[in-house]
Amino acid sequence: MAAILAPMSDTRPIGVFDSGVGGLTVLQQLHSRLPSERLTYLADLAHFPYGPRYQHEVRDFALRIIDHLVGLDTKLVVVACNTATAAALGAARERFDVPIVGVIAPGAQAAVDATENGRVAVISTEGTRASQEYVHAIKEANPGVGVLGLAVPDLVDIVESGEADGPRAAAILGAVVDEITGWGADTLVLGCTHYPLLRTTLDRVLDGRHLTVIDSAETTATRVARILAVNRLGAGDGPSTLPELLVTAQPRRFSDTAALLFGEALPQPTVVALWDSATVVGATS
Ligand code: DGL
Repeated sequence: MAAILAPMSDTRPIGVFDSGVGGLTVLQQLHSRLPSERLTYLADLAHFPYGPRYQHEVRDFALRIIDHLVGLDTKLVVVACNTATAAALGAARERFDVPIVGVIAPGAQAAVDATENGRVAVISTEGTRASQEYVHAIKEANPGVGVLGLAVPDLVDIVESGEADGPRAAAILGAVVDEITGWGADTLVLGCTHYPLLRTTLDRVLDGRHLTVIDSAETTATRVARILAVNRLGAGDGPSTLPELLVTAQPRRFSDTAALLFGEALPQPTVVALWDSATVVGATS
């Protein structure tokens, strides 16, 4: 009897989403680590920012987006947003069969592995801090580690408006670094996918002070690579393809940030209408 062979490659796309440009940091890491994977990125600009919103609201947005991505025949979905991971990961895994990866657990594990003094600081949006999901995830990995969670909501707007290298970012990060080093943290988790875009300013503000910085974009890409391998979902050795970009409202600086991160211009984003106009009342972008 002929053996049933597993397929050599699975060329279906990986779906990735965030409220705005932040998840592009995860997308870029996925692309450089897994160049032959097809990637479809959706930015929910109609509802940006997620950080100050109610958890149930963010959960509903995330579930609708995942439903759309599943409809595009994605083989795996990455919630490239800490706020949406905190609000929706559990509900999404209950509702959809497709493997869904969030950004909190990979960063929490990396922080626990990195800390030498058992003191980890996490900066995030208000929604992520209020959910306490980082505290749970870090203490799940090692209950002996202390966690200081700080919400730094203004940084998201600063990044989204293209001012990551500006004086406001430096002033806010300076105050954050003083507070967390004063508390004694030796490890800092960037608990918002917008924050890796502030890395240059952060390094300047640190000015040689020792702090291990955990970037959830890198740790999430590592986890996705492992999940694809374990579940035999990898695309194999195909050619490298640029991501496809979708947005839920007209973009402003989106393409510039995408080009900056990828080092080349990406295809123009396509606007998808996932909600009727009544739902987007109150959106800020
Ligand atoms: N980038 C997102 C996060 O990781 C959210 C930013 C926002 O929309 O407030 O939490």
